[in-house]
Amino acid sequence: MGKEKIILTGDRPTGRLHIGHYVGSLKRRVELQNSGMFDKVFIMIADAQALTDNVDNPEKVRQNVIEVALDYLACGIDPMKSTIFIQSQIAELCELAFYYMNLVTVSRLQRNPTVKTEIQMRNFETSIPVGFFTYPISQASDITAFKATTVPVGEDQKPMLEQTNEIVRRFNHIYGEVLVEPEILLPDNAACLRLPGTDGKAKMSKSLGNCIYLSDTAEEVQKKVKSMYTDPDHLRVEDPGKIEGNTVFTYLDAFSRPEHFERYLPDYPNLDELKAHYQRGGLGDMKVKKFLGAIMEEELAPIRQRRLEFEKDIPAIYEMLQKGCEEARATAAQTLAEVRKAMKIDYFNDTELIAEQVKRFAK
Ligand code: TRP
Repeated sequence: MGKEKIILTGDRPTGRLHIGHYVGSLKRRVELQNSGMFDKVFIMIADAQALTDNVDNPEKVRQNVIEVALDYLACGIDPMKSTIFIQSQIAELCELAFYYMNLVTVSRLQRNPTVKTEIQMRNFETSIPVGFFTYPISQASDITAFKATTVPVGEDQKPMLEQTNEIVRRFNHIYGEVLVEPEILLPDNAACLRLPGTDGKAKMSKSLGNCIYLSDTAEEVQKKVKSMYTDPDHLRVEDPGKIEGNTVFTYLDAFSRPEHFERYLPDYPNLDELKAHYQRGGLGDMKVKKFLGAIMEEELAPIRQRRLEFEKDIPAIYEMLQKGCEEARATAAQTLAEVRKAMKIDYFNDTELIAEQVKRFAK
């Protein structure tokens, strides 16, 4: 106890997962799951959090729960090694959040940079739903309910982890050591930290239509790679080209490995040489895009193939999720019992309480 290494992470089911999710977190989760270094791995489909800004679209969330589950399995999340579960099915998480709310101030929530950006993006400025505003607290419940030590997520989740750690410290200070401070695990490759959309915009997002999905067909992937944003001033092959802000090269930073050059582009020993040639001039966008297309296909084909296999037995996926929810609930209930005890609201499990009160009221 106490020294266990536990992973908890998750995604909002608001769409199918894309390659930004993949390099930003999913790939790492699978490696961690298979590393044997963790005692438990919990992967949560955050449907309740998705509803905080999709109140009027429950059907979207419902449809995407299964999409995300399929994406997880396709990437290699293995239900024998990881517990995949659905947030809303764990009522204990709400109760924890309710208690944690007393440990956080409104102004602290207002300072959360990720929430700030999201408020702008959703035009919530004049009228923020309370549930949305407080989701960082709910996220602290998600993490602490499982006593997670490690949370592999994208960079945008950093403020949530900071908020969680503040809650843990405050709780433990007031009520005693019950909760565990988690550590964020970010991708180590800068290109993976925030993979841009195919249009070169800062982030891959469904609403911008600039995503390559894990479930895209080979044709869709190749078409998207071919139309990717490069250097707009690189008009002729002979022209010198820019690497910075050139999406194709950012993707190569994220996806290419030395063996890809041997296999698909043996004229170049490595990415640095390819970049140098592009910058000198004489290297056309199409050639680089073809190379990227080959790499993407190599990476995505097995994922796509596995997804199609899993899609053949949908009832089995729901069964797996239900089992995952049961396991997750048992763990969260254990933490909640400890929290209640520490907060002195465990009236009927405290064998001394009645005797104490009897003494107090004895005339
Ligand atoms: N906020 C995360 C996202 O938008 C989803 C999430 C909810 C999560 N609870 C979590 C991630 C707990 C890690 C840990 O993708």
